[in-house]
Amino acid sequence: MPESQGGLDRLRRFIATATRMATPSGLAQTPELQAAFADLVRHDDWLPEACTAPHPQYYQQYLLHCDPLERFSLVSFVWGPGQFTPVHDHEVWGYVGMLRGAEVNQRYARGQDGSIAPAGAATTLQPGDVERLSPAEGDIHRVSNAHADRVSISVHLYGGNIGAVSRHVYDPATGQAKPFVSGYSSASLPNLWDRSEAVRAAIAGGAR
Ligand SMILES: [Fe+2]
Repeated sequence: MPESQGGLDRLRRFIATATRMATPSGLAQTPELQAAFADLVRHDDWLPEACTAPHPQYYQQYLLHCDPLERFSLVSFVWGPGQFTPVHDHEVWGYVGMLRGAEVNQRYARGQDGSIAPAGAATTLQPGDVERLSPAEGDIHRVSNAHADRVSISVHLYGGNIGAVSRHVYDPATGQAKPFVSGYSSASLPNLWDRSEAVRAAIAGGAR
């Protein structure tokens, strides 16, 4: 019996695809991986309700999956109205995919004098859009909810266990970097592995 297309099946299929693409030493940013991720965020029928809840004060980072070898992790970012990150980097590669609402991405670059300044115009991600982040190409940015009156949600794929990566936040006034480890907002993950309903349905279908 074919698996259904949406819900946790879609999330599990993406995780299986990324796991197959990974080598023992890691998961690389490739057009194939980006295409699989883009396909995931093009559909808004799979993110568990518990991973969509905003917090009145803080943007939320719900871990959806971390590879057992910490080669990649998948996180839903939930922005309350008007919420935004500090200026920060990642130390690992990333993809940001917009699921609901919209977010504004302002990149920053370090000048000759050590200062941190906005680099180029801010871009706005709309549902289905995917932004690529690469530390080698400069990945310092600030992200904010484009909406002052509603929640926005993006899904992020990183080349490591992002909540446990030692990275940096920056004071845009001085350019000073401070160590930063983001952690996660949730203590539990979606249960991807109870496939009993589909198995029971297949058995019932076979018994007909
Ligand atoms: Fe970021």
